[in-house]
Amino acid sequence: MTAPSWDTTAPEKTIKVTLDTQSYNVVVGYNNLSRLGRHIRQVVKNDNVFVLTDTRVGPLHAVRLKETLQTDGFKDVTVVQVPEGEKSKSMEEYLNILGEVHRFSRGKPEKALMLNLGGGVVGDLGGFVAATYTRGCNYIQVPTSLLAAVDSSLGGKVGVDFAGAKNIVGSFYQPGLVFIDLSLLKTLETKEVRTGLAEVVKYGVIKDSTLFRYCEDNYEKLLGLDPEATFHTVGICLQIKAGVVQEDVLDRKGIRAALNYGHTIGHAIEAASSYGYSHGEAVSIGMVAENVIARELGLLDRESAGRVKNLLKNIGLPVVSKKFPVSEVFSYLSRDKKFTGGANRFVLPTEIGSVKLVSGVEERLVEKA
Ligand code: GLY
Repeated sequence: MTAPSWDTTAPEKTIKVTLDTQSYNVVVGYNNLSRLGRHIRQVVKNDNVFVLTDTRVGPLHAVRLKETLQTDGFKDVTVVQVPEGEKSKSMEEYLNILGEVHRFSRGKPEKALMLNLGGGVVGDLGGFVAATYTRGCNYIQVPTSLLAAVDSSLGGKVGVDFAGAKNIVGSFYQPGLVFIDLSLLKTLETKEVRTGLAEVVKYGVIKDSTLFRYCEDNYEKLLGLDPEATFHTVGICLQIKAGVVQEDVLDRKGIRAALNYGHTIGHAIEAASSYGYSHGEAVSIGMVAENVIARELGLLDRESAGRVKNLLKNIGLPVVSKKFPVSEVFSYLSRDKKFTGGANRFVLPTEIGSVKLVSGVEERLVEKA
């Protein structure tokens, strides 16, 4: 199957996220950074922008971002960087950035406008600062990783890690705009592209067998960030995510929980490896392991489980974890708010394109997986 041809007359696609309390656009395009200012002007009145980024993305993209905003008349565009990596999703960095935003806001009559330029860490951290500073200020997500573009930038889950538990302190706080220029992804290392593709595979398994098949046929193009294939795929993932978020924005109806396929075991492996595995690598292992549970429970056929494993392998993702003591993995599992909250609850596929929430999975099966 081939992607629809790249429509140069409509270089941007807009997906509208409509919630009871608020609506916002997710704009995705290629080489469209110069249009960011105009999109911001459509949603907020601010003339000043506090840009949060990290030490890897800042040097690559912040100067151009600042120039384009200044060309569009934004006055004070202040860029602050946090160290690259998961360690920045901490209380310490949260307090540090709160202090920076507070300094930035002094003497400015309007509430601060934050713009998070980066991957999931920057988006989650900056979003949490935005959620809490002055009881909420506007923020914009400009994801620069494939993972953030297809998943974490949309949906308003913001927060930091705490006491060894991932995302345990946080909030639901929606951005005013998600703006994606896929050409910024060109600077990603292949390892980071793979990590984002793990989430793409997730969307295929939980909701869209056509997307899954497209990935099977086009994984090489996707690994190479071919513009058409990437635009096509990111657009579909965003549509799926927007639909899920609209139906269950606060993750309480068991609908949004589907996005955690592969993540329950994945998060535990990620933590047990002290983040030696990237998020996508851990989720890849998690999806394969959770498929083992689905197979044991008679929910998933062998062929489908094999297709998931093969696709992940073809993408270059690990499908088996290094050995960690089971007790260690369980100790992290028991800290997972969704796992304990739902009594050993797992999202398990029943076929490619469909999943079901299963509670009360026996520990023996989890151990086997
Ligand atoms: N990344 C999972 C969610 O947004 O619910």
